[in-house]
Amino acid sequence: MLRLDSVTKRYGSLTALNGISLNIARGECFGLLGPNGAGKSTLMSLLAGLRTPDAGSLTLDGAPLSASDLSTRATIGLVPQSIALYDDLSAEQNLRIFGELYGLRGATLRDRIDEALAAVQLTDRRRDRVDTFSGGMQRRLNLIAALLHRPKLLLCDEPTVGVDPQSRNAIFDFLEKLNREGLTIIYSTHYMEEATRLCSRIGVIDHGRILALGTLDDLLAQLPFAAAIAFPVRASHAAFAAAIAPHGELTSDDEMHRFGPRADFKLSEFYRLAEQHGIAPQLFTHDRPTLEALFLHLTGRTLRE
Ligand SMILES: Nc1ncnc2c1ncn2[C@@H]1O[C@H](COP(=O)(O)OP(=O)(O)OP(=O)(O)O)[C@@H](O)[C@H]1O
Ligand SMILES: [Mg+2]
Repeated sequence: MLRLDSVTKRYGSLTALNGISLNIARGECFGLLGPNGAGKSTLMSLLAGLRTPDAGSLTLDGAPLSASDLSTRATIGLVPQSIALYDDLSAEQNLRIFGELYGLRGATLRDRIDEALAAVQLTDRRRDRVDTFSGGMQRRLNLIAALLHRPKLLLCDEPTVGVDPQSRNAIFDFLEKLNREGLTIIYSTHYMEEATRLCSRIGVIDHGRILALGTLDDLLAQLPFAAAIAFPVRASHAAFAAAIAPHGELTSDDEMHRFGPRADFKLSEFYRLAEQHGIAPQLFTHDRPTLEALFLHLTGRTLRE
């Protein structure tokens, strides 16, 4: 459906996207996972036709993607990262404006507004001003505003930032339903949990490059170890941490050490060293491999840094 070939975008001397190539198939829910400044919003703005690339090409169903092309605009819906609503107007008035922008009128527009408000449980707030809405309600309204014209491709740029777990679940359930009904979704986030739950395929992006691409299983298989072993940070554990560090990947925060042993490092040897350093085995917990661990492995940094 959507094809990107060596897409590059610069802002002055800063290269925000650096040769991105990607194919998105119809019906996919594709996750774009990366930290602040990775280039997610820049990519979304190119996909939405709001910016043009400095090099490379983007095609939608084989035709070059162009902002001036009305059929492109009718096909795509963008949920922007910063909420784009009129604060001093009601939910309904906002939706009317967005709908009319897309050429919807009369009964069709009314029906779509009713349906959209109901889908995200905002029907009873339809006549209230947006500035009286909670952050989560504004996010949900921001989302349906991009769907009134029934796009085939929905671009969601971090649509759950600042949203409580309940609203987040409402948004997820809604997106999952739309995806089952055939909507193609590209979803950007820096939460690995979101990409893991929603997306059939995930691209890990950092500094304008795709570092890894595939299903969750494909990505986790790129980790050199199947599981990490965690244990608490204590002064008395420092010597043990130093002893195992050469045998795998050791990362530490204020609370925990996490150790991913290399394939050739035997667990029996790990426990022998623990015993030698007087560390009780019940201090160890085994972490399942995660996208966070993959990102750390690929970049040496965490997704939230
Ligand atoms: N309009 C702009 N002018 C100049 N630099 C920009 C502009 N927009 C983004 N950048 C820079 O381009 C890089 C990528 O930014 P982008 O907003 O695409 O990242 P992001 O992945 O969406 O980050 P976040 O998670 O913080 O939203 C960053 O270094 C950013 O500072
Ligand atoms: Mg962004």
